[in-house]
Amino acid sequence: TGQDDLLPLSHSRTLRKTNLVRVALPLQVQEYLEPFHLSVEKLREVSARLRKDLVRGLGKHSHHKAPVKMLPTFVRATPDGTEKGDFLALDLGGTNFRVLHVRVVEEEQKVLKMDSQICAIPKEMMLGPGVQLFDHIAACLNDFLVSQNLKGQTLPLGFTFSFPCEQKEIDKSILIRWTKGFNCSGVEGEDVVKLLKEAIHRRGDYDIGSVAMVNDTVGTMMSCGYRDQSCEIGMIIGTGTNACYMEEIKNVRRVEGEDGRMCINTEWGGFGDDGCLKDIRTEFDVVVDETSINPGIHNFEKMISGMYLGEIVRLLLVRLTENKLLFEGRTSEALLTPDAFETKFMSEIEERDGGLENTQNILTELGLKWDSVDSRIVRLVCNAVSSRSARLCGAALATLANRIRVNRRLDHLKTTVGVDGTVYKKHPNFSEELRATVRLLAPDCDITFLVSEDGSGKGAAMVTAVAQRLAHQTRLLEESDGEVDDEEEED
Ligand code: GLC
Repeated sequence: TGQDDLLPLSHSRTLRKTNLVRVALPLQVQEYLEPFHLSVEKLREVSARLRKDLVRGLGKHSHHKAPVKMLPTFVRATPDGTEKGDFLALDLGGTNFRVLHVRVVEEEQKVLKMDSQICAIPKEMMLGPGVQLFDHIAACLNDFLVSQNLKGQTLPLGFTFSFPCEQKEIDKSILIRWTKGFNCSGVEGEDVVKLLKEAIHRRGDYDIGSVAMVNDTVGTMMSCGYRDQSCEIGMIIGTGTNACYMEEIKNVRRVEGEDGRMCINTEWGGFGDDGCLKDIRTEFDVVVDETSINPGIHNFEKMISGMYLGEIVRLLLVRLTENKLLFEGRTSEALLTPDAFETKFMSEIEERDGGLENTQNILTELGLKWDSVDSRIVRLVCNAVSSRSARLCGAALATLANRIRVNRRLDHLKTTVGVDGTVYKKHPNFSEELRATVRLLAPDCDITFLVSEDGSGKGAAMVTAVAQRLAHQTRLLEESDGEVDDEEEED
């Protein structure tokens, strides 16, 4: 049937069987794919390096040059089920920009997404002046408020802004640098909340209430936290990749306080930016980085996430073709066009049933003349690249889980990870391989994976709601403190 030529490369026995029996993969093709096959020992090394980098990022003095930024989020608590209210949410940083109206209902412990609207952000705007981007955001929000009949109200707003930000407070968030496809001028080093408010004030026809800034990983963790209170890790594998987790405040040296926990946005996409992953980067990873809009930045992400995987595959296919190992050495215009091989093709190609047929259709679409060996090789190429991505993610997640376990001095940790992102959700064997890797590298952690339902929208509302609840509680505490003093005096 041709089914099992798609088993993960990690199963080297299968690979051998596949090569000899099914495909008779030329040795030279294997040589190109071999560097993508990371052994368990290598993954353990990668996990150990990340463990050290987490500590560097948290340190007061080592932080400023740490590649893994470990950013405090000022989210100190996961939902407790008493949150409620109406919220607006903005979501910028994935493939689309969205505006949402979300209602959190206490009694039913439910987050209801009332409505949402997608606004396209033209590519030029992703690379243009920041003022233009924020004016566009404010205009989209206006259109939404009008269509929802909400314009007279001043609702609190959760802003899911999925880029590395140095957060000073829940509503003050300085963009450190753009990642993924964005590169607007005049935003890096600025407070994003201020830029949003200024854009709204420039219009002068509506206003918003308090703002909470949220990274998508945090929104994902919080939206799952509502359903499962042991959710203490949020992970994204979509256009970009990143994770957050609950860290002991006493370990977050840059934040005051000894007790309790705070959610840390790791920004693990930047892992390797100091060169520590040189041994596993292939020549194709180097090209992807060098031709990107931010060379040298987010090396780990560029080996893993949806924005780059397809391009790695394309570069491999071009090279194999040049060496006459594919398509009888004949390329096509499409194959030679950067980003023309989309990451979503990989999911279609690697599908268990029908994958081979999908491969052939995609190759035809790309203007290539293939035979059956070609299409099997292409599937193996995709599998090598996606499999490496899943295993690297698994290694990184194992590092976080192990860290939480050691932090709490537990022999065994049971925890939940909220996950989102198209690569994780759409790829046929990604999640399975990721889990297998975590099981190997964090054997003392029992991890439940919960796919987040719209963490960037509902999660942002959740963060805003928790922030309001805590602010409210602080006020109550101050008031009742006074009363206790009075009583004591009377006694
Ligand atoms: C990029 C961003 C990060 C975000 C991730 C997933 O890595 O820097 O903030 O969480 O993409 O969207």
